[in-house]
Amino acid sequence: MAPRIAPIDATLGAVVTDLELARLDPATWQTVEAAFHEYAVLVFPGQNLTEAEQVAFANRFGEIELLAADPEQKAVPISNQKPDGTIMGPDEHRYKSLRGNEGWHTDSSYMPLAAKASVLSAQVVPSAAGETEWADMRAAYEALDEATRRRIAGLSAHHSLYHSQATIGHVVSPGAGYGFHTKGAPLRPLVKVHPVTGRPALFIGRHAHAIPGLDAAESEALLSHLVDFACRPPRIYAHSWRPGDVVIWDNRCVLHRARPYDYREPRIMRHTRVAGDPATELASTDRDERAGAYEPSSSNR
Ligand SMILES: [Fe+2]
Repeated sequence: MAPRIAPIDATLGAVVTDLELARLDPATWQTVEAAFHEYAVLVFPGQNLTEAEQVAFANRFGEIELLAADPEQKAVPISNQKPDGTIMGPDEHRYKSLRGNEGWHTDSSYMPLAAKASVLSAQVVPSAAGETEWADMRAAYEALDEATRRRIAGLSAHHSLYHSQATIGHVVSPGAGYGFHTKGAPLRPLVKVHPVTGRPALFIGRHAHAIPGLDAAESEALLSHLVDFACRPPRIYAHSWRPGDVVIWDNRCVLHRARPYDYREPRIMRHTRVAGDPATELASTDRDERAGAYEPSSSNR
């Protein structure tokens, strides 16, 4: 049976049913991969993948980006519940990282090698809210006026997790977790051409700051204007999770954010990140003034 692909009422996204992600035959995989390139966000309701099945599905898209210290751990929990079952408090580092995820961003743009794709599956969901939302940066670029397109052509921004967390009052030291490194802040063009589809997309989000050639205020004003313009209908989709749902998205051309919920309730997501292609997602870095040392490296590890 061929999978059913129902486009979402937005410029991105489709809901894919009538398939089992854990058992994809070659023809169905080709259909899924083509839909990924066309829609950039694919929602697979009720798949209930095991961790190994989720990693294997992500692995079809490319190498896994290792987020945990243990290289054998290829999926990580994104949760406000600690291993001992208690709920994180507002002063905890991980809690502040979760709240940071509520700003529009693209995964690992602050690493030398940015991510290709991300997979999330819902394990435990709160009784209300806690959606994930995506915004289409291809359609956003297409919707820009000609003067703005001309203005941003040739501009780049630095990407830093120290920067984005500092904007919510979370000042972090190097080594405190993934992304808080001394490799420097990657410099990435504001317009990214998709390596497969050739479509240009805005490459922005909360990690982006400090556009060379602009002063800090101009840079901040331009970047926040672009995010504000880009992340609105018809370019956005918010998914209300049910346990077992799986979503994959293309970090090269969409932004995403978590939505708030009652943080006294547990929310447990399982995340697997697909590494970018060094040919198209690797960037050189400049000193990140918030990281003490500057030890350039082209490796994320
Ligand atoms: Fe994210």
